[in-house]
Amino acid sequence: MAATTTYLTGIQTSGEPHIGNYVGAIKPALAAVESHDTKYFLADYHSLNAVKDPEKLRHDVRSVAAAWLACGLDPARTLIYRQSSIPEVFELMVILTNVTAKGLMNRSHAYKAARDRNEAAGASDLDGGVNMGLFNYPILMAADILVMETDYVPVGRDQQQHIEYTADIAKAFNHHYGEHYAFPIPQGVYPEGESSVLPGIDGRKMSKSYDNHIPMFLPENRLKKLVRRIPTDSTPVEAPKDPDTSSVFQLLRQFASEDQAAATRKRLEAGGMGWGELKNELFEVLNATFGPMRERYTELMEPGSALDGILAEGAERARERSRATLAKVRAAVGID
Ligand code: ADP
Ligand code: TRP
Repeated sequence: MAATTTYLTGIQTSGEPHIGNYVGAIKPALAAVESHDTKYFLADYHSLNAVKDPEKLRHDVRSVAAAWLACGLDPARTLIYRQSSIPEVFELMVILTNVTAKGLMNRSHAYKAARDRNEAAGASDLDGGVNMGLFNYPILMAADILVMETDYVPVGRDQQQHIEYTADIAKAFNHHYGEHYAFPIPQGVYPEGESSVLPGIDGRKMSKSYDNHIPMFLPENRLKKLVRRIPTDSTPVEAPKDPDTSSVFQLLRQFASEDQAAATRKRLEAGGMGWGELKNELFEVLNATFGPMRERYTELMEPGSALDGILAEGAERARERSRATLAKVRAAVGID
């Protein structure tokens, strides 16, 4: 990938970020800034589908933006903006609905899952509880991606269908209007292997939906308590332990230096290190990693902090690009 390719991803703004989000999404996004033209946006209109409490939506958008900035995202070197600040996204979505087959949307995983749930519950209307925001979700996502003429979209595997739909919708547009204007066809970039999936405190994948997550910016005393609560077996202190089946060690490994992780692995395997001591070590490492970010996060969450200015400037820069795309698209379709 050359440095001029556009690398864009959207961040759902539902709930405060956890350390799994850090490992799986934020850290790789920070690394990508070094080598790509990156754009990161807060997908607040996508979140509106799940979050119907305005105070919560407001809070979560600020919280996610503050988290990414506190982790070191540099607004001078990347573009960070709110989806809702870019009216061109919504205009493009309307245009794209006219080249998108309804059958494609019928096959969308999220929509099909909602119908399957209704069927399993014996409901007579399989579309019960499905609104048009859910049904059109993939088209809004296509608009997010295409409005910035994106080449690559780094996302989790769960988003693969959405990226493929975006490519299909772009091709349908290009088929109709390609002699006037053609979108670049975006490609998904997916994490490789399982190594980037962080376990939660119950050993399953860390996820807000399992309520097994460690929030990134938990105050020190609450972080300590949560780490102490991670279930472990009753192997005595002196017995050898298998680091590879311990979620405490798996968590430690992600955040400790390689040397520290190797030394701790040795001690566990040799016996003589108890779970309590391992948990203390994990707490220290997490606190050292996230402590400084927590301070910055708290500052950014204050009303009147630098956050609003950063997002406003991001929106302005993003709009330059989205306006330029829309001018070409409008001309191509004949709406001048
Ligand atoms: P959650 O499962 O908590 O709702 P999301 O689905 O909102 O998290 O995930 C947001 C981003 O964080 C995605 O890019 C996802 O791949 C990443 N992510 C979430 N949980 C983990 C995890 N346990 N390990 C690694 N990455 C994760
Ligand atoms: N649907 C994505 C998710 O749940 C968020 C998202 C919205 C997105 N628009 C996007 C991701 C555009 C990449 C590109 O995580």
